[in-house]
Amino acid sequence: MRHNPQICVVGSINMDLMIETTKMPQQGETVLGQSFAFYPGGKGANQAVAAARLGANVHMIGAVGKDEFGASLVDHLRTEGIHTQGILMSDQKSTGVANIILSEEDNRIIVAPGANYAVVPEMIDKHEEIIRSSDIILLQLEIPLQTVLYTVKKAQQFNIPVVVNPAPYQQLPEELVRNVTYVTPNKIEAAAMKEEAYFAAIKEKLVITLGKEGVVYYNNNTATRVKSFKVDVKDTTGAGDTFNGALVTKLAQGEPLSDAIPFANAAAALSIMKTGAQEGMPTLDEVNKFIIERNG
Ligand code: RIB
Repeated sequence: MRHNPQICVVGSINMDLMIETTKMPQQGETVLGQSFAFYPGGKGANQAVAAARLGANVHMIGAVGKDEFGASLVDHLRTEGIHTQGILMSDQKSTGVANIILSEEDNRIIVAPGANYAVVPEMIDKHEEIIRSSDIILLQLEIPLQTVLYTVKKAQQFNIPVVVNPAPYQQLPEELVRNVTYVTPNKIEAAAMKEEAYFAAIKEKLVITLGKEGVVYYNNNTATRVKSFKVDVKDTTGAGDTFNGALVTKLAQGEPLSDAIPFANAAAALSIMKTGAQEGMPTLDEVNKFIIERNG
């Protein structure tokens, strides 16, 4: 490892309420599910945990409510070794929750953002020192877009690379996309981005995650596809988050995309072998061992 990268994740923290079912209910229908459990989640928190398990020194800027979910989620982040002084405990809003239905090896998610919308630009000013001392900043779209834009500007001021995971998708202003280092949409988000007038001009900033079909990125107007690893799938929730956390960990160590992507693919593959967004997220040794086993 070249050095312990300093990563700042600005993003969401949710409690995931996960129900497993073999049959997805139709509109107006009730079905009986197989199991229910609470898991720590939120795209921001998931990405922070993924990076921390891989050896990064991670600061998180986010918000939870002053409630039981909030307290246990912040405690959990601390036990993962994540610095939590950038997390606000709001007495105005309750902790964000995600309702996740797990079925047929895939999921459907509805997020009630709650306190995640208390992550306002003033919080970025308040924690400017964290931004300034980071090797890379990682953002998603479960906090106000205004804050995402503000963070990108702040990072630019200090010349710090930024990766934006545009999930859940919202139309991104051209200014934002032009000012970040990479954008990491999945298939659905990339299709929405293709509709934007600026798409051709920003193609080389894209790292598109396609699940089983691997990852595509562009270089000199040529698309390169990096294969994913085949594993027994338990739960794909958080696979994209693991990919993003692993990707920025490698980029912050100065590795090129061509090396960072296969590493992040391996981390994501390991993460989907357990139920719960963060349960299967691997350590650095686990990823390295897996890569050696698979590459022979
Ligand atoms: O990407 C998976 C995450 O999306 C879940 O943990 C859930 O909280 C939602 O934010």
